Amino acid sequence: MTAQIIDGKMIAEQVRKEVGEEVAKLVAAGKPKPGLATVLVGENPASKVYVSSKQKACAELGMESFGFHLSEDATQDEVEGLVRELNADPRVNGILVQLPLPSHLDEESVLRSISLEKDVDGFHPINIGRLAQKGRDPLFVPCTPLGCMVMLEKIGVKLEGTNAVVLGRSNIVGMPMALLLVRANATVTICHSRTKDLPGVVRSADVLIAAVGRPRMVRGDWVKPGAVVIDVGINRIDDPTHPKGSRLVGDVYFEEVKEVAGAITPVPGGVGPMTIAMLMKNTLHAAILANGPA
Ligand code: GUN
Repeated sequence: MTAQIIDGKMIAEQVRKEVGEEVAKLVAAGKPKPGLATVLVGENPASKVYVSSKQKACAELGMESFGFHLSEDATQDEVEGLVRELNADPRVNGILVQLPLPSHLDEESVLRSISLEKDVDGFHPINIGRLAQKGRDPLFVPCTPLGCMVMLEKIGVKLEGTNAVVLGRSNIVGMPMALLLVRANATVTICHSRTKDLPGVVRSADVLIAAVGRPRMVRGDWVKPGAVVIDVGINRIDDPTHPKGSRLVGDVYFEEVKEVAGAITPVPGGVGPMTIAMLMKNTLHAAILANGPA
């Protein structure tokens, strides 16, 4: 059996189109354009690429973006001072502080300084805390796990009662992903570097989310036949046959796993495009919270 390939690019395009249409309605109703502020600290090359893609997406959907770039040695007060100014700026509906921050900065304190109503990344401790609690709802859900949920929904996966396995426990993906799956009534196992018999645990998954950052770690014989596999990994590996000498792969050994799984996301073109689409959706939601609907 060969798996259904889940086209994240196409699903993200649908989400972006819907968001763009909602933005146009807001503007036609006399509301201000939704605005996203991005805060980049330091010179991490991958972060620079991600931030510029987020700004480009804003422009494409008719939103404003406000880019701020602080030096690698910015102080805690400088970063939090900038966030406080953005909290007070009515043109700014969403604030995104690109992670990781340089190691001398206290990340939790920076994330806590963002207004809850502008926390479009959903990383504020109160938003994450609400995500973890029964009967409470966060104002925003982190973009990558939310994008994974939208993909599962779009291909018609019914999560209730399934065994879901999340590989990785990061604050950005693994942990909020596991919380979302619990909220969808899946039975969730979180695996990490100390998990015993990792292949055996992964083999129990009806739905597998791989988010460990280890190139092609999940092999074909780790996967239950027919399982749905969402690959969040984006890893660059050497490949002399490729014009650039390298290429991107996920955390899943795609060529093997696609022969076993029922459905699988490719890398690139799977989860990646969904993250930005969900950020745009969260920013639209923040603008509606601030200025009301169209
Ligand atoms: N670094 C990697 N992913 C993300 C994300 O979704 N948001 C932010 N702010 N930083 C990231």
